[in-house]
Amino acid sequence: MAEKAVRGTFLDFIDDPWKHVGDEAAATRFHVDGLLVTEDGIITDFGPYDEIAPKHPGIEITEIRDRIILPGFIDGHIHLAQTRVLGAYGEQLLPWLQKWVFPEEHKYAERDYAEEGTKHFFDNLLASGTTTAQTFTTGNLLCNEVFFEEATKRNMRMIAGLTGIDRHVPDYFANTPEQYYADSKTLIEKWHGTGRNLYAITPRFGFGASNELMAATQRLKEEFPDTWVNTHISENPAEIHGVLALHDDCTDYLEVYEKYGLVGPKFTGGHGVWLSDGEFRRFSESGAAVAFCPSSNLYLGSGLFRLGRATDPEHRVLLSVGTDMGGGNRFSLLNSLEDGYKVGMLNNTILDGSIVPSQQDLAESERNKLSAFRAFYLLTRGGAESLYIDDLVGTFDIGKEADFVALDYTAGPPAAPWHASLLLEKAGDGPLSLETVSDLLFGIMMVSDERAVDQTWVMGELAYQKA
Ligand code: GUN
Ligand code: ZN
Repeated sequence: MAEKAVRGTFLDFIDDPWKHVGDEAAATRFHVDGLLVTEDGIITDFGPYDEIAPKHPGIEITEIRDRIILPGFIDGHIHLAQTRVLGAYGEQLLPWLQKWVFPEEHKYAERDYAEEGTKHFFDNLLASGTTTAQTFTTGNLLCNEVFFEEATKRNMRMIAGLTGIDRHVPDYFANTPEQYYADSKTLIEKWHGTGRNLYAITPRFGFGASNELMAATQRLKEEFPDTWVNTHISENPAEIHGVLALHDDCTDYLEVYEKYGLVGPKFTGGHGVWLSDGEFRRFSESGAAVAFCPSSNLYLGSGLFRLGRATDPEHRVLLSVGTDMGGGNRFSLLNSLEDGYKVGMLNNTILDGSIVPSQQDLAESERNKLSAFRAFYLLTRGGAESLYIDDLVGTFDIGKEADFVALDYTAGPPAAPWHASLLLEKAGDGPLSLETVSDLLFGIMMVSDERAVDQTWVMGELAYQKA
C-alpha cells in the first residue's frame, strides 16, 4: 500500500507531565503545522510539515484545518454489555449491579442482542474519539465471540476477556470455575494476538469470586503469562467489607489478587477509590495499574479517588482513565476528564480545609489538579503505558499504529464557540501556540463533550466523521 499523510496541528506527549511540575510543556511534542505519514496503518514519518514533506514527494496529503490532532483516546475500563443501561437511576454499586446490570448483561447470551449491543458499543467509542478500550464483557462465551468478531471488523486495538463471577450473583448469571477456565482458554487460544485483539483474564471483582474462581484465574495467567489481567478494586465501602469477609486471610483488597499471583505488569484494577497508601506502594512497586474512573465514582457515589496520592513520586502508580460506562453515565472520556478535574478540586478542599496544610499536603494538592496536559497524557501515552501497549499506540512515534482523533475546539454545546473565541482572542493572530492549545484543550474537557470529536482515525483510515 502507498504511503499517505495527514497535515494539521499535532500534539502528543514525550513524558509524564506530573514529572514536570511548573513546566508541563516539557512533557509535550507540538507541531502547529505537522505532517504524519503512514503506510499500512503504521506511522512511518512525523514532524514539522516543512521538514517532512520534501522527503515524500508526490505523497497524497489530507489536510485537517482548525483542529487539534491527538493520538486516539484509550479507555482503561469500560463495560461492553452496559451500553443500554448507562444512566440508571437510584443505586450504589452493589444494588445497582443486581437491579440493572446483571439482567441486562444476561441478554448478551443471545447472538442477535449481543450483535446489536456490540455495534452500538463500537459506534459510541468512535464517536467519542476512543480507539482503544480495555473492556469487560460478560461471562458468556458467545458474547465474547461477538465482541472479538466486531473488534476485528473495526480493526481496533482492544483488550478484553470473559468476565467471570460466581459469588453474590443470581444463578442465571453465575459462572462455574471450570466453565470460566475452559471458556477463557478457548478465547485466549483463538483471539489473543489475532488481528489487534489482546486478551485480558477478567475476574469481575474480588467480591464476586470464590477461591476456586480465583484459582482458575491464576492457572490461566500461569499458562498464558503474556495475557492481561483486568478487574475492579476498592470501589465501594460495602464491597470492600464483603471482600474481606469472603477472603478472610487477606488484610486488604489488593492482597486477594496478590495471593493468586495476578498483580504485576499488565494488571489493571479499576477505581481504587479506597486504596491505602500501602496498596498504592505495592501497585507502584509491582508495575500494576489503576484505572481512574471519575464519572462512575461520582455517579455511583463510590468516592473521590486520590489522584495526588497515586501520583506521588515516592510511589507513582501507572494510571489510565476509564469511563466505566455504564457505571459512568457517559461514553466520552472528555466527560471523565471534566469529572476528574472536579474530583481533584474536591480532594483539595478536604486536604487544605481540614488542617493547616503541610508541605506534603500542598504538594499532593498540586498533583490533584488535572491540567489539560495531565488529562490528555492519561488518555494517550499514559494510558498506553499503564496497559503496557505503549510500543503500539499512544503517541505519534514512528512505528506506532496510526490511531488519532481530530478535535474541533469550537464545537460542543451552544456556549462552546463563544467560549473558544475568548481563548483565541487572548492568543491574538498567527499560528496557535502551545499555551493556547493547552487553554483550548482545557475548554474542550470542561465546556464541551464528544461533540468536539470531529474525526476519529483507525490505522491511518478515517473511521468516524461527525455529521
Ligand atoms: N464491580 C463489579 N462489577 C462491576 C461493574 O459492572 N461496574 C462497576 N462500576 N463496578 C463493578
Ligand atoms: Zn467497571
